[in-house]
Order: sequence, then structure tokens, then C-alpha cells
Amino acid sequence: PLVKDLFGLTELEERIRSHYGLKQVVIVPGDSDVSPHTKKELGRAGAAVLRKLVTEDEVIAVTGGSTLAEVAYHLTATTPLKGCWFVPARGGLGESVELEANTIASTMAKKTGASYRLLHVPYYLGEEAYQSLMQDQSIAEIIQFIRKARMVVHGIGEAMVMARRRKVDPETTESLRRDGALAEAFGYYFDRQGNILQKMPTVGLRIEDIHEMDMVIGIAGGKSKGEAITSVLRHGHENVLVTDEAAAQEIVQRL
Ligand code: F6P
Repeated sequence: PLVKDLFGLTELEERIRSHYGLKQVVIVPGDSDVSPHTKKELGRAGAAVLRKLVTEDEVIAVTGGSTLAEVAYHLTATTPLKGCWFVPARGGLGESVELEANTIASTMAKKTGASYRLLHVPYYLGEEAYQSLMQDQSIAEIIQFIRKARMVVHGIGEAMVMARRRKVDPETTESLRRDGALAEAFGYYFDRQGNILQKMPTVGLRIEDIHEMDMVIGIAGGKSKGEAITSVLRHGHENVLVTDEAAAQEIVQRL
């Protein structure tokens, strides 16, 4: 707490919290873009928030990415977490295996002594393939299970960075750019005002499911992500934000 006050971080937290009507904002000092130490602290802070907010025996949906991998790394076995189930929020998003939501969910479960269930399907399918997959009993069942989640812990990325990382085809990338895509979270792209661009038939949690959750926890930092985080906050369904000082400075400039 002492270090935080030195940087004026407590005040920053409160300004962002009250502007967006969040339950909690946690800001760690530094800039994850340039400091691996800050990124680790972001993961540690994310793990602490999760530990504090979780109730016993619940289903916790998680997304992928390097920030969530840091959160997973910092989790330890604690009583309320042990009875929980970690599940991926969505199907594969074209991420490398280490960054996939499935990997993060299983790592979190192993670190905490919790259970996990995985979803082995791509998140985006053509309409026809989607309809036939949904007829599959075991897939339908795991998706039902994932939709029991009342808490989702997710990363936030810059739209164009994420489109590149997922090797989104050039036409789609161009149309996202034209539509003003700035942010990406849970497989959805958001414009500056926080509107969702392109609704696709995807596998896993739908945006409606996320809107109905009790606890939506966003974890993302780095100056470069400030604008993207702002878009997702403007979408208006976050409850908790864990970020770093550099991103927070960008967020407050846009209040
Ligand atoms: O692909 C999963 C995901 O959580 C995205 O929704 C998000 O944009 C991205 O990862 C964040 O990744 P990183 O933490 O590596 O920047």
C-alpha cells in the first residue's frame, strides 16, 4: 500500500473505478510493455483478486493469452479454489498451445488443486459445421457446463495485434480495420465506443452469457493496451479491472 500511495495509484484506481462503476480496480506500478517484472506483478495481482472473489465450488471460465498465463503461474492451492472447476471461456482462438484458454484452465486447476474440463473445438466455424457440432452430445454437454460459470477471468488485447497473432485472413482484418476495431476480448472485437463488431457463430460463452455473469474480471496492462482497455470498459460489462500504471494513465486520459 505504501508503494502505491507513493505513485498516486490509489487515487488512479478510485477515479477509474467510480467512472466505470466497477466493483474494484487494482493498479500495479510500471509498464508491462517494457518491464517483464511489471507483467509478473500484474499476474500476481490478478491471482490475488481471483483468490479473494471466488466462492467455493464454482465454475470459473478463463481466456488465453500471456497475461492469463502469468495469473496461472501465481496461483496456489487455497481452500475455496480447490472445489472449483476451471474451464475455457471459448473454443481455440488460433493461439499457440501455451497461450490457449484450454492450457490456462488446466494449469490453473493443477496449481490450485481444482478440477478442469476442456473444449476441443475451434472457436469459429462456418454456419453448417457449427450446427452439426452443436448436435454432438459431448460438445453440447461441455458447453452447458461452461455456461454455468458465474465468473470469467479474461485478457484484453489490441484488435490488430490479436488479428495478426491469430492469423485472421486479410479480408476480415481489413474489414475490422475499416469498422474501427480497437480491442479484442473473449473472441469479440470492439470499436472505440465499446460496440461489438461482427457477431459470429462461436463455440463457448456468448456475449449474452458474459453480460449475465456476476463477476467479469479483466486483466491487462501496458501503455499500448490503454486504448483497447478503454473500449472494453465502455462496453460496460466489466466488474473488476487489474491493470498497470502505464495503461491506467491512458485510461484516465479518456475518462
Ligand atoms: O486469445 C485470448 C486472449 O485473452 C484475447 O482475448 C486477448 O486479446 C489476448 O488473449 C490477450 O493476450 P496477452 O495477454 O498475451 O496480451
